[in-house]
Amino acid sequence: MTISSHIAPAPETTSPGLENTVAAETILSHVDGAAGRLIVRGYDLDQISSWSFEALLVLLWKDLAPGQVTEADVQSALGQARAAAFHLVERLLPTIPHLSQVEALRFLLAALADSQTVPHHVMAIAAVPVFAAAIARNAAGSAPVAPDASLSHAEDFLFMLHGTRPSEENVRALNTYLVTVADHGLNASTFAARVIASTKAGMFSSVIGALCALKGPLHGGAPGPVLDMLDAIGSEDNINAWLSASLARGERLMGFGHRIYRVRDPRADVLKQAVGLLRHGGGRIGFAEAVEAEALALLAEKKPLRPLQTNVEFYTALVLEAVGFPRESFTNVFAAGRMGGWTAHVLEQERLGKLIRPQSRYVGPQPSQM
Ligand code: ACO
Repeated sequence: MTISSHIAPAPETTSPGLENTVAAETILSHVDGAAGRLIVRGYDLDQISSWSFEALLVLLWKDLAPGQVTEADVQSALGQARAAAFHLVERLLPTIPHLSQVEALRFLLAALADSQTVPHHVMAIAAVPVFAAAIARNAAGSAPVAPDASLSHAEDFLFMLHGTRPSEENVRALNTYLVTVADHGLNASTFAARVIASTKAGMFSSVIGALCALKGPLHGGAPGPVLDMLDAIGSEDNINAWLSASLARGERLMGFGHRIYRVRDPRADVLKQAVGLLRHGGGRIGFAEAVEAEALALLAEKKPLRPLQTNVEFYTALVLEAVGFPRESFTNVFAAGRMGGWTAHVLEQERLGKLIRPQSRYVGPQPSQM
């Protein structure tokens, strides 16, 4: 018997994007793409969208990590961890080479040592806003602002970004954003995190891998380009011509389409409402709605058999712009929210303790027979 005859044959069919493949069981979240529904540990999105980000972390981490059982525990642990992360910023920010903002975040996260004593899931959450705010200020030529441990995570993020106390309505909008994007089934970045976690590489390596997956324009890199698109269209009378020309060139319209949703992404509506509540956020909303309506009509015409609807990234762009983030930092802000889900999935995968190692089907040439 040859060694190769012990290896189970690979299944006959493959799907390059793993569509319709169930690759994990999770208690964390479920995306119902036909109904346009997102469930996070037993709650519908609209039940949790008004929660604090800290309360959502309590839910996500429940029974997966020791400590942090109340919202106050999480707020206090995150406040202390943000202060610790800021020491790294002071030391490393001047050494960052010329990088985009998401590359700079990847660089700083890579400096988190596995040997450090702050619980790694807490540090991973705390570090992102500290790093992202410092990176955004650095890009604008401003010095970093130290965190204030007494503030909520969303408020401190805006404080570190602007250097002044943010308005309550901006804090509420950013908090809603962080909660809305915190977890979303087995999306590409979460899957990447679980694959890395399954090798026992540790929390920081797993979430850095997730960030690398998030940064692509087909995943978390879209909201900056959404604003670029709105700017390029410029005025209502140019909407149809601009979008038609873009589609005719075979381009994808940023902020539309989703692997799972065949109806509207429920997160888009939560974020649209959050922008609508901002006194200074409504500037673009009317124009954005007009672009959205025309884009949906053109996509339905172009792809009648493939329902392409508005996804989370379209209104993400408007929320983050309204609370003052530069568009180059949008992916980093997405990472600040999604880190909630990444850390919980890594903890869940570590608890499972099973290596993720699928098979491939060999379609290359056979060795020549001698
Ligand atoms: N604009 C134009 N055409 C589109 C779009 C779009 N936004 N999205 C999909 N299509 C078309 C594709 O060109 C393809 O057409 P074809 O069959 O003629 O080649 C068809 O619809 C199916 O597209 P796939 O890429 O196979 O679908 P998939 O489920 O893999 O794609 C994705 C999902 C990547 C999000 C896609 O819709 C897209 O590229 N959207 C634009 C980028 C974007 O908004 N990204 C953020 C996603 S949300 C998130 O990750 C948080």
